Amino acid sequence: MESSSAISVKDISHDPSYYTKAFNVFVRHSTEHQMLATWVETIFPRTVVEKIPISKHNQEEKLKILGFGSGTGDLDYTMIAQLLKKFPSISNTVVEPNPDHIVEYKKLVASKSFGSDVDFNWRQQTWQEYYQECQQLNKIKKFHFISAIHSLYYVEDPESTILDIVSCLDEGGILLLVLISENGGVIRQHKRFLSDAQRVVGSETICKILEKCQLKFEAFTENSTIDIACCYEAGNQDGVLLADFINNVKLQESGPPSFVEEVLSYMREGAIQNGDQILLDTEWQVFVVTK
Ligand SMILES: C[S@@+](CC[C@H](N)C(=O)[O-])C[C@H]1O[C@@H](n2cnc3c(N)ncnc32)[C@H](O)[C@@H]1O
Repeated sequence: MESSSAISVKDISHDPSYYTKAFNVFVRHSTEHQMLATWVETIFPRTVVEKIPISKHNQEEKLKILGFGSGTGDLDYTMIAQLLKKFPSISNTVVEPNPDHIVEYKKLVASKSFGSDVDFNWRQQTWQEYYQECQQLNKIKKFHFISAIHSLYYVEDPESTILDIVSCLDEGGILLLVLISENGGVIRQHKRFLSDAQRVVGSETICKILEKCQLKFEAFTENSTIDIACCYEAGNQDGVLLADFINNVKLQESGPPSFVEEVLSYMREGAIQNGDQILLDTEWQVFVVTK
C-alpha cells in the first residue's frame, strides 16, 4: 500500500463551489450547527450581548459587527437576532470569500428580513484582503463585536490574525472564536493523513495564543457528533462530500482507492456504531475575548 505521506492531497478549500456543497452536507449530518445555535440562544446573551457596553450605542449610533468567514449566514443570523434584543440597529460587515456562500447568505436575509434594523456591507474577500485594504486606505474601522466561527483554520498565521482582529475592536468590544479541538475525530484524521501545513489549527493552539498575547477571555467546551454512515454506502454522493469535508481534501482525486480505503477505515475505527448511525465525536471550543 502506498504510504499516505507520499500522497499529494487536494485541499477542498481551493475549490469554493465544491467546498460549499461539502459544507452543506456536513451541516446536515452533524449535530454541531444545531448545538451552536442553541449556545447562541442560551449562553451568548449573557456572555456576549450583556457585556457589550450600552453607553456607547445610543439611538444615533448603530452597533457595528463583523462576521469573519460567515459562510451561509445561519449562525450569524441567530446572533444578530439576539443582539437586536438589546441594540435597536446594527451595521453588519460580512467578510466572506466564497461567492456561493454570499449568495446563500443574501437569500437567507431576503427570506427572513430584519427590515431597516440591520444593514449589510457585503465584502466578498478574505480577511487578509479586507484588512490590507483598510490599512492601505488608512481606515481601520472599529467594531463592537466580531465573530470568526470555524474560519480561523484558513489563515496562515493565526496569532497575527487574532491581533489584527483585536485591533479592529472598539474598547470593551468582544471577539467570538469557535474552533474544533484536538480531542475530536476530525483532527485525529488530519494528524494521521495530512502534513502540518495541511492540518487545521486546533482550539488548544488558539488558547495558547490568547494566553501568550495576554488577552482576556472565557472558554467553553462542547461536544457534538457527525453521522458518517453515508461515507460507507457505495455510490452515496453525500458520503463522498462528507468524507472530503472531514478530511479537508478531495480524497477520490488525491490518491489510489487503497488510500481512500485507509482513510475511511481509520475514520470508522475512531467512531462508534449507534443503530444505523456511525457517530464521529467532535469536540469544539468557544472563546469569548474581551478587549
Ligand atoms: C467551515 S465554514 C464556517 C462558516 C460559518 N462561520 C459557520 O460556522 O456556519 C468556514 C468559512 O470561512 C470562510 N473563509 C475561508 N478562508 C477565509 C479567510 N481567509 N477569510 C475569511 N473567511 C474565510 C470560508 O469561505 C467558509 O465560508
